[in-house]
Amino acid sequence: MNLSVTLNRLRLQNPILVASGTFGYAREMAGAVDFAKLGGISPKTVTRLPRAGNAPPRTVETASGMLNAIGLDNDGIDHFIAHHLPYLRTLPTAIIANIAGKTADEFVEMAAKIGGEPGLAGLELNLSCPNVSGGLDFATDPNVTRKIVADVRAVCPLPLIAKLTPNVTNVVPIAQAAADGGADAVSLINTIVGMAIDWRKRKPILGNVTGGLSGPAIKPWALRLVWNVARNVRVPVIGIGGITTIDDVMEFLVAGASAVQIGTANFFDPTVSTRLVEQLTATCVEFGIKSVPEIVGTLSR
Ligand SMILES: Cc1cc2nc3c(=O)[nH]c(=O)nc-3n(C[C@H](O)[C@H](O)[C@H](O)COP(=O)(O)O)c2cc1C
Repeated sequence: MNLSVTLNRLRLQNPILVASGTFGYAREMAGAVDFAKLGGISPKTVTRLPRAGNAPPRTVETASGMLNAIGLDNDGIDHFIAHHLPYLRTLPTAIIANIAGKTADEFVEMAAKIGGEPGLAGLELNLSCPNVSGGLDFATDPNVTRKIVADVRAVCPLPLIAKLTPNVTNVVPIAQAAADGGADAVSLINTIVGMAIDWRKRKPILGNVTGGLSGPAIKPWALRLVWNVARNVRVPVIGIGGITTIDDVMEFLVAGASAVQIGTANFFDPTVSTRLVEQLTATCVEFGIKSVPEIVGTLSR
């Protein structure tokens, strides 16, 4: 069965991708995962310069999910291009690099650099990392979102995905701004800011005090935002948030997502995404669905 999807200029062999920060730079998963089955891989966010990340502890388990405050620990874009990209571009699936700048200019500089590299299917702009002091949460402001996407588009030929934050009152104007700036798709959601407390010590558990909540706990929130954006903005949506089962995948597609990314589930089941691709085929056959776009956004009330 043909599961391929097209999100403006971004073409994927199937709509199931793995989410940034939950799959390393793929090498780590090589023994466990058949990459050829995946719709795509979004490797861990890279920044202009190496970052040490936040003080530990950086993760804590919560009810139906986890909090993380990694703080974009990474070795920088030059190391990514020299060390990770040569491996990633050999993989038989779409590689979507993921970058975060401290300023709009940093996004543009990195996009220009990486846009000249062969072997990438797209570029995801992490406008939404909640764990970094210094205002990386650009996607709380429509004007900033529009400008970064437009400026990146001017220097980078790759299909662009704007990754949006759920930590806003209304995500629709921000998704609209990303579309106006020329994004081929928006991906949502990144994590929801939360915290965990050790009351006996009267202390926060995370070194960063607050962290991003992810996993099944956030699925209803993610579904609402995907549904809101998909019916109000003419831009393909990549749904993210707590996806673990094939029913989760189908719910996001019906809500209006053209593709999905699997995040936290990779930590407790690294092969979950490849299994979901197989189950998507089986589900389409069982329900007489001839192509994925046929079911996208079919929610009725
Ligand atoms: C440990 C961890 C690290 C993450 N790092 C990144 C990152 O570097 N860049 C990014 O865009 N998203 C990052 N995310 C967010 C995920 O890509 C995803 O948007 C979020 O976790 C929601 O999906 P999920 O509930 O399936 O995990 C991270 C998530 C986790 C749990």
